[in-house]
Amino acid sequence: MKSFAALTALTGLIAPAAATIYYAGVAESGGEFGVWSATSTVGAGLPGKFGVDYQFISTSAVDTHVDQNKVNLFRVAFLLERMCPLATGLGATFDETHFAHYQDSINYITETKGAYAILDPHNYMRYNNPSQQPMSGSVIGNTSDVTAATTAQFGAFWGELARRFSNNSRVIFGLMNEPHDMPSSLLLANLQAAVTAIRAANASNLIIAPGNSWTGGHSWTQGGAEASSLWLNKLVDPINNTAIDIHEYLDSDFSGTHQACTSDPATNLANATAWLKANNYKAFITEFGASNATGCSTMLSSMIDYMAANDEYIGWTAWAAGPFWGTASPCCTDSKNWGSLEPGSKAADGGPGMYDTVWVPTIQPKVPKLLQWTGAASVHGGNLTAKA
Ligand SMILES: *[C@@H]1O[C@H](CO)[C@@H](O)[C@H](O)[C@H]1NC(C)=O
Ligand SMILES: *[C@@H]1O[C@H](CO)[C@@H](O)[C@H](O)[C@H]1NC(C)=O
Ligand SMILES: *[C@@H]1O[C@H](CO)[C@@H](O)[C@H](O)[C@H]1NC(C)=O
Ligand SMILES: *[C@@H]1O[C@H](CO)[C@@H](O)[C@H](O)[C@H]1NC(C)=O
Ligand SMILES: *[C@@H]1O[C@H](CO)[C@@H](O)[C@H](O)[C@H]1NC(C)=O
Ligand SMILES: *[C@@H]1O[C@H](CO)[C@@H](O)[C@H](O)[C@H]1NC(C)=O
Ligand SMILES: *[C@@H]1O[C@H](CO)[C@@H](O)[C@H](O)[C@H]1NC(C)=O
Repeated sequence: MKSFAALTALTGLIAPAAATIYYAGVAESGGEFGVWSATSTVGAGLPGKFGVDYQFISTSAVDTHVDQNKVNLFRVAFLLERMCPLATGLGATFDETHFAHYQDSINYITETKGAYAILDPHNYMRYNNPSQQPMSGSVIGNTSDVTAATTAQFGAFWGELARRFSNNSRVIFGLMNEPHDMPSSLLLANLQAAVTAIRAANASNLIIAPGNSWTGGHSWTQGGAEASSLWLNKLVDPINNTAIDIHEYLDSDFSGTHQACTSDPATNLANATAWLKANNYKAFITEFGASNATGCSTMLSSMIDYMAANDEYIGWTAWAAGPFWGTASPCCTDSKNWGSLEPGSKAADGGPGMYDTVWVPTIQPKVPKLLQWTGAASVHGGNLTAKA
């Protein structure tokens, strides 16, 4: 008779722990709106008017996503230059009116709706001039740039934000949206300053940390000595409650600007997935998306299946919903105005928007029936239940 171990190896009776998505939903883009300037005017749109130039969420859209679509995660963008005005600089001094609006949105999602929220400073690791985001602004911590905020200021900012949300374990700290074109050593220093400050503020919340190069999953191990894979494993969190924040689009250059889906994510994420496993990291993919072009539905579905099948992935948010998109599109349309993932969204010609052409037919069926609805957000996930 064969040994029990041999038998189970043959028959696969003992399966590895099932891969699980605990958190799934949509990115809310709108808090970073109203600063782009065609003429590169520094500070254009700052501070801007809440509800006119920018807004974080529409509560009715969040209601639809939670009550009807049964998603439990929202990633809510804001702009550092609004939270920490240029007059006082990046750090622990906030514009309290602006903070109150942001806190209202986060509290609505987490306390009123019982979902989870990722705080998303949508700043590309830059501060002081968002007029031409994602390229403008001084890289945080660039000691050769007298106008740049320092690494210590970035830490102070996160320490203060963390202190304010440390009573709410449904809040996840997304350290920064899409750092790019900067030394990875500086990226690591900035991320470490933030993690250290967050834990010093006694906030045990789940943190998600991005890599360099727009935190692209496909390029995680690329870039020679600058590869994210060589740096992010050096980040130290004293309580080990940090996951990796990855972005991945399906178009030819991974930018999320083209209609055609040509970059198969299962192939392109393989190295990042192996790195996550080797380094004992979990990950969220907090930006991904595709158009309604032929072939996109299949590839987008297979991407969500890939996350569900691989233990390293515990959460995702599709890009993007938000109250101010109108008929404009957040991704993947070759600049066509085909609407967004905001419920009720329409294309410019009055046709169905991406909520109806992408979310409803392709993403919604892949929202796991069981998600975490109670307890703290954590790299370990929590109890899974169906939303009532
Ligand atoms: C945390 O404190 C803030 C500020 O007092 C408050 O608005 C919020 O409701 C609190 N959240 C929880 C979950 O206790
Ligand atoms: C840092 O600032 C210097 C001086 O402005 C500039 O030449 C350099 O490109 C900046 N580095 C980064 C990564 O932006
Ligand atoms: C964090 O908790 C420790 C131990 O309870 C306490 O000494 C310290 O003052 C706290 N720090 C903050 C920033 O609240
Ligand atoms: C965090 O993980 C490291 C590496 O696996 C381990 O040495 C350390 O004990 C862990 N710390 C906690 C608080 O679990
Ligand atoms: C994955 O790693 C292998 C081996 O280093 C390399 O040949 C391949 O190009 C990598 N793929 C991507 C998408 O980076
Ligand atoms: C995608 O949606 C837009 C906006 O409704 C529509 O004009 C276009 O024909 C759709 N494309 C396909 C392939 O269905
Ligand atoms: C999961 O549910 C059990 C039973 O209700 C409870 O004891 C436990 O604390 C829960 N775990 C988490 C992480 O919420």
